[in-house]
Amino acid sequence: GGRPIVTDLLHCGKPTLPANALPPYQCCPPMPTSDPVDFRLPDPSEPLRTRRPAHVAGADYMAKYERAIALMKALPRSDPRSFYQQANVHCAYCTGAYRQVGYPELSVQIHFSWFFFPFHRAYIYFFERIAGKLLGDPGFALPFWSWDVPEGMRLPVAFANASSPLYDPLRNPRHAPPKLVDLDFSRREKNYTDEQQIQYNLRIMYNQMITNSPSASLFYGQPLRAGEADMPGPGPMEIYPHNTMHLWAGDLSLPNVENMGAYYSAGRDPVFYTHHANIDRLWDTWCNITRGDQRHLVFTDPDWLESSFLFYDEEARLVRITVRDVLNIDKLRYAYDKVDIPWLNARP
Ligand code: C2O
Repeated sequence: GGRPIVTDLLHCGKPTLPANALPPYQCCPPMPTSDPVDFRLPDPSEPLRTRRPAHVAGADYMAKYERAIALMKALPRSDPRSFYQQANVHCAYCTGAYRQVGYPELSVQIHFSWFFFPFHRAYIYFFERIAGKLLGDPGFALPFWSWDVPEGMRLPVAFANASSPLYDPLRNPRHAPPKLVDLDFSRREKNYTDEQQIQYNLRIMYNQMITNSPSASLFYGQPLRAGEADMPGPGPMEIYPHNTMHLWAGDLSLPNVENMGAYYSAGRDPVFYTHHANIDRLWDTWCNITRGDQRHLVFTDPDWLESSFLFYDEEARLVRITVRDVLNIDKLRYAYDKVDIPWLNARP
């Protein structure tokens, strides 16, 4: 038995960046003026934020996300709610900037472990609430990029407009819409027809969500406990489509496939948060598909449930949130618009 992972701002330092990384070269959040507060669930009377798929959400909905990103980008860099700092959150948790409390020689990398789903859920939860706060819209909900359904298998057009705050010049120019995504992209174009690529993608979804994820311990990834070396091993979804879509979106001509293709820079592309909203939705989908079969869901390891991460909330307060806190999205006051899951029928 180990102990839960705890992170602490006093134990955030120099990130380990890849060679030829693009600035900035540090990514720890601003120091708080007081101790972190423990997370509290939103009031049940808050409006439910219903996240919609980017490809059907409509121009007004996407324009809201665009405005939110513009507002975040306009905040001073010292503000923990600024886009600059929000992008850095990913860097800090994914480059060894945080050291394990009590084990200064060990870093906290949340990928390739059982923290992959819960960490990103908490991250975009706060991101969404900051966006809503800046917009003055308490019902604001993130769009999600549903690259798992045929109609969503392109970069959503709102991100491709070079004059939009949603645009990032550090992307693969060959993958602008209407190019179809390749859910197991590995640097080489497949040159499939659209129909072949769609069928291929659907089969990948079936394999990763169903065949390779029959139980919680397989789905979530390997345990990481305090005192252990990080990156013990990923769940199937983290490798692909998650990692492969990062690689697909980033610019292959750059040394680390920035922005989306590298941990330290991925959060700098506004599409990151819609990509992760879809990952988060697929976590919720997996829980619903497997409900009723207890073997799938029972996952009560206290070292997982009590591990905690730090985020600044919409009031710029530093909050400590545990894995246990994020397991029920109804209680977090958000939901996903229903989309079909055609890959359920794509058993290879
Ligand atoms: Cu923390 Cu999609 O990576």
